[in-house]
Amino acid sequence: MSSLSCEDFFYLLGVIHVNVKEKINTLEKKLKAALASVENQAQLQEIKAEFLGKKAEISQFMKHMKDLPDEERPAFGQMVNEAKKRFSDLIEAQREAIKKAELDALLRKETVDVTLDAPDYTLGSTHILNQIIEEIEDLFIGMGYLIKEGPEIETDELNFEKLNLPKDHPARDMQDSLYIGNETLLRTHTSPVQVRTMLAYGGEKPVKIICPGKVYRRDDDDATHSHQFTQIEGLVVDKDTTMSDMKGTLLAVARHLFGPDREIRFRPDYFPFTEPSVEVDVTCANCDGKGCNICKQTGYIEILGAGMVNDKVLKMSGYDPKIYQGFAFGIGVERLAMLKYGIEDIRHFYTNDLRFNKQFKR
Ligand code: DAH
Repeated sequence: MSSLSCEDFFYLLGVIHVNVKEKINTLEKKLKAALASVENQAQLQEIKAEFLGKKAEISQFMKHMKDLPDEERPAFGQMVNEAKKRFSDLIEAQREAIKKAELDALLRKETVDVTLDAPDYTLGSTHILNQIIEEIEDLFIGMGYLIKEGPEIETDELNFEKLNLPKDHPARDMQDSLYIGNETLLRTHTSPVQVRTMLAYGGEKPVKIICPGKVYRRDDDDATHSHQFTQIEGLVVDKDTTMSDMKGTLLAVARHLFGPDREIRFRPDYFPFTEPSVEVDVTCANCDGKGCNICKQTGYIEILGAGMVNDKVLKMSGYDPKIYQGFAFGIGVERLAMLKYGIEDIRHFYTNDLRFNKQFKR
Protein backbone atom coordinates (compact mmCIF):
# COMPACT_ATOMS: atom_id res chain seq x y z
CA MET A 1 0.00 0.00 0.00
CA SER A 2 2.89 2.34 0.72
CA SER A 3 3.78 2.42 -3.01
CA LEU A 4 0.40 3.85 -3.89
CA SER A 5 -0.28 7.54 -4.02
CA CYS A 6 -3.05 9.08 -2.05
CA GLU A 7 -5.24 9.31 -5.18
CA ASP A 8 -4.59 5.76 -6.11
CA PHE A 9 -5.65 4.82 -2.68
CA PHE A 10 -8.97 6.62 -2.91
CA TYR A 11 -9.43 5.38 -6.43
CA LEU A 12 -8.79 1.87 -5.23
CA LEU A 13 -11.12 2.28 -2.31
CA GLY A 14 -13.73 3.80 -4.55
CA VAL A 15 -13.56 0.74 -6.80
CA ILE A 16 -13.88 -1.59 -3.86
CA HIS A 17 -16.77 0.52 -2.63
CA VAL A 18 -18.54 0.37 -5.95
CA ASN A 19 -17.76 -3.29 -6.41
CA VAL A 20 -19.13 -4.10 -3.01
CA LYS A 21 -22.32 -2.27 -3.78
CA GLU A 22 -22.68 -4.10 -7.09
CA LYS A 23 -21.74 -7.33 -5.47
CA ILE A 24 -24.45 -6.85 -2.84
CA ASN A 25 -27.03 -6.16 -5.56
CA THR A 26 -26.01 -9.28 -7.45
CA LEU A 27 -26.12 -11.34 -4.27
CA GLU A 28 -29.52 -10.00 -3.43
CA LYS A 29 -30.87 -11.00 -6.83
CA LYS A 30 -29.33 -14.46 -6.47
CA LEU A 31 -30.85 -14.80 -3.00
CA LYS A 32 -34.29 -13.83 -4.24
CA ALA A 33 -34.05 -16.34 -7.07
CA ALA A 34 -32.91 -19.08 -4.69
CA LEU A 35 -35.70 -18.30 -2.24
CA ALA A 36 -38.31 -18.49 -4.96
CA SER A 37 -37.71 -22.20 -5.43
CA VAL A 38 -37.31 -23.16 -1.77
CA GLU A 39 -39.84 -25.74 -0.60
CA ASN A 40 -39.02 -26.60 2.98
CA GLN A 41 -37.21 -25.48 6.12
CA ALA A 42 -34.15 -27.65 5.46
CA GLN A 43 -33.51 -26.06 2.07
CA LEU A 44 -34.03 -22.65 3.66
CA GLN A 45 -31.36 -23.38 6.25
CA GLU A 46 -28.89 -24.24 3.49
CA ILE A 47 -29.62 -20.94 1.73
CA LYS A 48 -29.26 -19.04 4.97
CA ALA A 49 -25.83 -20.58 5.52
CA GLU A 50 -24.82 -19.78 1.94
CA PHE A 51 -25.88 -16.11 2.05
CA LEU A 52 -25.42 -15.15 5.68
CA GLY A 53 -23.10 -17.76 7.20
CA LYS A 54 -19.47 -17.15 8.23
CA LYS A 55 -18.19 -18.17 4.84
CA ALA A 56 -20.80 -16.17 2.94
CA GLU A 57 -19.44 -13.48 0.61
CA ILE A 58 -21.20 -10.72 2.50
CA SER A 59 -19.43 -11.78 5.69
CA GLN A 60 -16.10 -11.54 3.94
CA PHE A 61 -16.69 -7.87 3.03
CA MET A 62 -16.19 -6.73 6.59
CA LYS A 63 -12.61 -7.84 6.36
CA HIS A 64 -12.01 -4.90 3.97
CA MET A 65 -13.00 -2.42 6.67
CA LYS A 66 -9.49 -2.14 7.94
CA ASP A 67 -8.25 -1.05 4.50
CA LEU A 68 -10.58 1.93 4.49
CA PRO A 69 -9.85 5.40 5.80
CA ASP A 70 -11.59 6.16 9.05
CA GLU A 71 -14.24 8.42 7.53
CA GLU A 72 -15.29 5.74 5.00
CA ARG A 73 -15.68 2.99 7.52
CA PRO A 74 -19.09 3.95 9.03
CA ALA A 75 -20.75 4.23 5.62
CA PHE A 76 -19.22 0.97 4.47
CA GLY A 77 -20.18 -0.84 7.66
CA GLN A 78 -23.71 0.54 7.51
CA MET A 79 -24.08 -0.54 3.89
CA VAL A 80 -22.98 -4.10 4.59
CA ASN A 81 -25.06 -4.37 7.77
CA GLU A 82 -28.14 -3.04 6.03
CA ALA A 83 -27.64 -5.58 3.27
CA LYS A 84 -27.32 -8.36 5.84
CA LYS A 85 -30.51 -7.19 7.50
CA ARG A 86 -32.35 -7.19 4.15
CA PHE A 87 -31.07 -10.69 3.34
CA SER A 88 -32.15 -11.91 6.74
CA ASP A 89 -35.60 -10.33 6.36
CA LEU A 90 -36.03 -11.96 2.96
CA ILE A 91 -35.10 -15.34 4.42
CA GLU A 92 -37.38 -14.97 7.45
CA ALA A 93 -40.26 -13.87 5.26
CA GLN A 94 -39.77 -17.01 3.22
CA ARG A 95 -39.63 -19.07 6.41
CA GLU A 96 -43.03 -17.74 7.42
CA ALA A 97 -44.40 -18.43 3.95
CA ILE A 98 -43.18 -22.05 4.09
CA LYS A 99 -44.65 -22.53 7.57
CA LYS A 100 -47.98 -21.24 6.41
CA ALA A 101 -47.92 -23.43 3.29
CA GLU A 102 -47.06 -26.48 5.41
CA LEU A 103 -49.90 -25.76 7.82
CA ASP A 104 -52.34 -25.17 4.97
CA ALA A 105 -51.33 -28.50 3.43
CA LEU A 106 -51.75 -30.27 6.76
CA LEU A 107 -55.17 -28.73 7.32
CA ARG A 108 -56.22 -29.69 3.83
CA LYS A 109 -55.03 -33.25 4.44
CA GLU A 110 -56.79 -33.54 7.77
CA THR A 111 -60.05 -32.02 6.68
CA VAL A 112 -63.01 -34.06 7.90
CA ASP A 113 -65.72 -34.36 5.35
CA VAL A 114 -68.78 -34.44 7.55
CA THR A 115 -70.99 -35.35 4.62
CA LEU A 116 -69.29 -38.76 4.17
CA ASP A 117 -71.04 -41.91 5.44
CA ALA A 118 -69.66 -43.14 8.78
CA PRO A 119 -67.87 -46.51 8.68
CA ASP A 120 -70.15 -49.42 9.53
CA TYR A 121 -68.89 -50.53 12.95
CA THR A 122 -70.42 -53.82 14.08
CA LEU A 123 -71.55 -53.70 17.67
CA GLY A 124 -71.65 -56.93 19.61
CA SER A 125 -74.55 -57.88 21.83
CA THR A 126 -75.37 -60.21 24.68
CA HIS A 127 -75.76 -63.85 23.64
CA ILE A 128 -79.35 -65.05 23.69
CA LEU A 129 -78.64 -67.58 26.47
CA ASN A 130 -77.15 -64.84 28.65
CA GLN A 131 -80.12 -62.60 27.84
CA ILE A 132 -82.50 -65.25 29.16
CA ILE A 133 -80.33 -65.82 32.25
CA GLU A 134 -80.32 -62.05 32.90
CA GLU A 135 -84.08 -61.82 32.42
CA ILE A 136 -84.67 -64.64 34.91
CA GLU A 137 -82.12 -63.20 37.34
CA ASP A 138 -83.89 -59.82 37.22
CA LEU A 139 -87.22 -61.45 38.01
CA PHE A 140 -85.84 -63.39 40.97
CA ILE A 141 -83.76 -60.55 42.36
CA GLY A 142 -87.02 -58.59 42.39
CA MET A 143 -88.53 -61.37 44.53
CA GLY A 144 -85.68 -61.22 47.04
CA TYR A 145 -83.55 -64.11 45.79
CA LEU A 146 -79.73 -64.23 45.80
CA ILE A 147 -77.69 -65.38 42.81
CA LYS A 148 -75.26 -68.20 43.70
CA GLU A 149 -72.66 -69.90 41.58
CA GLY A 150 -70.72 -73.13 42.03
CA PRO A 151 -67.77 -74.87 40.37
CA GLU A 152 -68.18 -76.77 37.11
CA ILE A 153 -65.86 -79.49 38.40
CA GLU A 154 -67.83 -81.02 41.25
CA THR A 155 -67.47 -83.90 43.70
CA ASP A 156 -69.55 -87.03 43.36
CA GLU A 157 -70.78 -86.35 46.89
CA LEU A 158 -72.28 -82.94 46.11
CA ASN A 159 -73.41 -83.69 42.57
CA PHE A 160 -75.11 -87.00 43.50
CA GLU A 161 -74.93 -88.37 47.02
CA LYS A 162 -76.16 -85.37 48.98
CA LEU A 163 -78.96 -85.02 46.44
CA ASN A 164 -80.22 -88.48 47.36
CA LEU A 165 -78.52 -90.24 44.48
CA PRO A 166 -76.31 -92.85 46.18
CA LYS A 167 -73.76 -94.73 44.09
CA ASP A 168 -76.08 -97.63 43.23
CA HIS A 169 -79.13 -95.46 42.63
CA PRO A 170 -80.81 -96.25 39.30
CA ALA A 171 -81.54 -92.58 38.67
CA ARG A 172 -77.82 -91.99 38.06
CA ASP A 173 -78.39 -93.59 34.67
CA MET A 174 -80.52 -90.60 33.74
CA GLN A 175 -77.39 -88.51 33.70
CA ASP A 176 -74.50 -90.15 31.95
CA SER A 177 -71.61 -88.26 33.49
CA LEU A 178 -68.14 -87.10 32.52
CA TYR A 179 -65.86 -88.21 35.36
CA ILE A 180 -62.46 -86.60 35.85
CA GLY A 181 -61.32 -88.77 38.74
CA ASN A 182 -62.97 -91.42 40.95
CA GLU A 183 -64.78 -88.82 42.99
CA THR A 184 -64.79 -85.78 40.70
CA LEU A 185 -66.77 -85.05 37.60
CA LEU A 186 -68.05 -82.21 35.42
CA ARG A 187 -71.31 -81.38 37.19
CA THR A 188 -74.30 -82.90 35.44
CA HIS A 189 -76.69 -80.26 36.80
CA THR A 190 -76.67 -77.04 38.84
CA SER A 191 -78.39 -78.81 41.78
CA PRO A 192 -75.12 -79.23 43.77
CA VAL A 193 -75.16 -75.45 44.32
CA GLN A 194 -78.30 -76.09 46.44
CA VAL A 195 -76.28 -78.40 48.64
CA ARG A 196 -73.29 -76.06 48.82
CA THR A 197 -75.54 -73.18 49.91
CA MET A 198 -77.46 -75.16 52.53
CA LEU A 199 -74.20 -76.49 53.99
CA ALA A 200 -72.74 -72.97 54.07
CA TYR A 201 -75.88 -71.66 55.83
CA GLY A 202 -75.41 -74.32 58.53
CA GLY A 203 -79.04 -75.51 58.74
CA GLU A 204 -80.09 -72.25 60.33
CA LYS A 205 -80.90 -69.55 57.84
CA PRO A 206 -83.72 -69.52 55.27
CA VAL A 207 -82.50 -70.03 51.69
CA LYS A 208 -83.77 -68.19 48.61
CA ILE A 209 -81.40 -68.62 45.69
CA ILE A 210 -81.10 -69.21 41.99
CA CYS A 211 -77.94 -70.66 40.47
CA PRO A 212 -77.23 -70.22 36.76
CA GLY A 213 -74.37 -72.09 35.13
CA LYS A 214 -72.98 -74.59 32.66
CA VAL A 215 -73.55 -78.33 33.05
CA TYR A 216 -72.14 -81.37 31.23
CA ARG A 217 -73.51 -84.73 30.09
CA ARG A 218 -71.99 -87.61 28.20
CA ASP A 219 -74.32 -87.14 25.25
CA ASP A 220 -73.65 -87.23 21.53
CA ASP A 221 -74.42 -83.80 20.13
CA ASP A 222 -77.45 -83.60 17.85
CA ALA A 223 -80.36 -81.22 17.25
CA THR A 224 -81.70 -81.65 20.80
CA HIS A 225 -78.65 -82.82 22.78
CA SER A 226 -75.42 -81.13 23.71
CA HIS A 227 -72.55 -82.39 25.89
CA GLN A 228 -72.62 -78.96 27.54
CA PHE A 229 -75.63 -76.78 28.20
CA THR A 230 -77.00 -74.24 30.64
CA GLN A 231 -79.28 -74.56 33.65
CA ILE A 232 -80.75 -72.33 36.31
CA GLU A 233 -81.36 -74.02 39.62
CA GLY A 234 -83.75 -72.55 42.17
CA LEU A 235 -84.08 -73.31 45.87
CA VAL A 236 -86.25 -71.94 48.65
CA VAL A 237 -86.00 -73.33 52.18
CA ASP A 238 -87.92 -71.80 55.05
CA LYS A 239 -90.20 -72.67 57.95
CA ASP A 240 -93.55 -72.44 56.18
CA THR A 241 -92.82 -73.22 52.58
CA THR A 242 -95.62 -74.95 50.70
CA MET A 243 -96.33 -76.27 47.26
CA SER A 244 -98.55 -73.28 46.57
CA ASP A 245 -95.51 -71.00 47.11
CA MET A 246 -93.80 -73.06 44.46
CA LYS A 247 -96.74 -72.81 42.09
CA GLY A 248 -97.04 -69.04 42.49
CA THR A 249 -93.31 -68.61 41.90
CA LEU A 250 -93.23 -70.78 38.80
CA LEU A 251 -96.34 -69.10 37.41
CA ALA A 252 -94.50 -65.78 37.73
CA VAL A 253 -91.55 -67.27 35.80
CA ALA A 254 -93.82 -68.60 33.04
CA ARG A 255 -95.62 -65.27 32.67
CA HIS A 256 -92.38 -63.28 32.78
CA LEU A 257 -90.94 -65.35 29.95
CA PHE A 258 -93.96 -66.21 27.82
CA GLY A 259 -96.48 -63.43 28.45
CA PRO A 260 -98.95 -62.23 31.09
CA ASP A 261 -101.82 -64.52 29.98
CA ARG A 262 -100.00 -67.82 30.42
CA GLU A 263 -101.22 -70.51 32.82
CA ILE A 264 -99.24 -73.45 34.16
CA ARG A 265 -100.06 -77.01 35.19
CA PHE A 266 -98.17 -79.62 37.19
CA ARG A 267 -97.74 -83.23 36.07
CA PRO A 268 -96.32 -85.80 38.49
CA ASP A 269 -92.71 -86.75 37.82
CA TYR A 270 -89.77 -88.23 39.68
CA PHE A 271 -86.54 -86.64 40.85
CA PRO A 272 -84.57 -88.19 43.73
CA PHE A 273 -83.99 -84.79 45.36
CA THR A 274 -87.66 -83.74 45.48
CA GLU A 275 -90.77 -85.42 46.84
CA PRO A 276 -93.29 -84.90 45.38
CA SER A 277 -91.77 -83.96 42.04
CA VAL A 278 -93.49 -82.34 39.08
CA GLU A 279 -92.99 -81.40 35.46
CA VAL A 280 -94.24 -77.89 34.83
CA ASP A 281 -96.10 -77.11 31.60
CA VAL A 282 -97.10 -73.68 30.36
CA THR A 283 -100.00 -72.97 28.03
CA CYS A 284 -98.71 -72.65 24.46
CA ALA A 285 -98.13 -69.00 23.58
CA ASN A 286 -98.52 -69.77 19.89
CA CYS A 287 -102.09 -71.12 20.00
CA ASP A 288 -103.11 -69.81 23.43
CA GLY A 289 -103.63 -73.38 24.62
CA LYS A 290 -105.93 -74.42 21.78
CA GLY A 291 -103.48 -76.87 20.22
CA CYS A 292 -101.02 -76.38 17.35
CA ASN A 293 -97.92 -77.91 15.80
CA ILE A 294 -95.58 -76.30 18.31
CA CYS A 295 -97.35 -77.84 21.32
CA LYS A 296 -98.12 -81.04 19.39
CA GLN A 297 -101.86 -80.32 19.72
CA THR A 298 -101.71 -80.54 23.54
CA GLY A 299 -102.06 -76.82 24.25
CA TYR A 300 -99.15 -77.10 26.72
CA ILE A 301 -95.36 -76.95 26.58
CA GLU A 302 -93.12 -78.51 29.21
CA ILE A 303 -90.72 -75.90 30.59
CA LEU A 304 -89.05 -77.19 33.77
CA GLY A 305 -88.81 -79.76 36.55
CA ALA A 306 -89.56 -78.94 40.17
CA GLY A 307 -90.66 -80.32 43.50
CA MET A 308 -90.70 -80.08 47.27
CA VAL A 309 -87.19 -80.69 48.60
CA ASN A 310 -86.83 -84.29 49.75
CA ASP A 311 -86.53 -84.62 53.55
CA LYS A 312 -83.38 -86.69 53.10
CA VAL A 313 -81.74 -83.87 51.10
CA LEU A 314 -82.62 -81.30 53.77
CA LYS A 315 -81.22 -83.58 56.48
CA MET A 316 -77.98 -84.35 54.63
CA SER A 317 -77.34 -80.61 54.29
CA GLY A 318 -78.05 -79.90 57.95
CA TYR A 319 -81.67 -78.70 57.87
CA ASP A 320 -84.26 -80.31 60.17
CA PRO A 321 -87.22 -81.35 57.94
CA LYS A 322 -89.56 -81.12 60.91
CA ILE A 323 -88.89 -77.39 61.03
CA TYR A 324 -87.88 -76.53 57.47
CA GLN A 325 -89.49 -77.30 54.12
CA GLY A 326 -88.48 -76.15 50.71
CA PHE A 327 -89.10 -76.24 47.00
CA ALA A 328 -86.63 -76.48 44.17
CA PHE A 329 -86.69 -76.25 40.42
CA GLY A 330 -84.35 -76.71 37.48
CA ILE A 331 -84.65 -74.73 34.25
CA GLY A 332 -82.95 -75.73 31.01
CA VAL A 333 -82.02 -72.39 29.45
CA GLU A 334 -81.47 -73.68 25.90
CA ARG A 335 -84.83 -75.47 25.98
CA LEU A 336 -86.58 -72.26 27.06
CA ALA A 337 -84.91 -70.27 24.30
CA MET A 338 -85.79 -72.92 21.71
CA LEU A 339 -89.44 -72.89 22.79
CA LYS A 340 -89.65 -69.13 22.97
CA TYR A 341 -88.03 -68.40 19.61
CA GLY A 342 -88.81 -71.58 17.66
CA ILE A 343 -85.13 -72.58 17.36
CA GLU A 344 -84.95 -76.09 15.95
CA ASP A 345 -81.31 -77.02 16.64
CA ILE A 346 -79.54 -76.64 20.00
CA ARG A 347 -76.15 -76.43 18.24
CA HIS A 348 -77.01 -72.94 16.95
CA PHE A 349 -76.29 -71.60 20.44
CA TYR A 350 -72.65 -72.65 20.36
CA THR A 351 -71.45 -72.31 16.77
CA ASN A 352 -71.34 -68.51 16.86
CA ASP A 353 -72.82 -68.01 13.43
CA LEU A 354 -73.41 -64.27 13.33
CA ARG A 355 -76.50 -64.74 11.17
CA PHE A 356 -78.02 -66.57 14.16
CA ASN A 357 -76.61 -64.39 16.96
CA LYS A 358 -77.61 -61.11 15.31
CA GLN A 359 -81.28 -62.04 15.37
CA PHE A 360 -81.28 -61.60 19.13
CA LYS A 361 -79.77 -58.14 19.32
CA ARG A 362 -81.44 -56.25 22.12
N1 DAH B 1 -81.38 -81.40 38.26
C1 DAH B 1 -82.42 -81.73 37.34
C2 DAH B 1 -81.84 -82.06 35.99
O1 DAH B 1 -80.75 -81.75 35.73
C3 DAH B 1 -83.36 -80.54 37.17
C4 DAH B 1 -84.18 -80.33 38.40
C5 DAH B 1 -85.44 -80.90 38.52
C6 DAH B 1 -83.69 -79.58 39.43
C7 DAH B 1 -86.19 -80.76 39.63
C8 DAH B 1 -84.45 -79.39 40.58
C9 DAH B 1 -85.71 -80.00 40.66
O2 DAH B 1 -84.04 -78.68 41.60
O3 DAH B 1 -86.44 -79.83 41.77
O4 DAH B 1 -82.54 -82.65 35.22
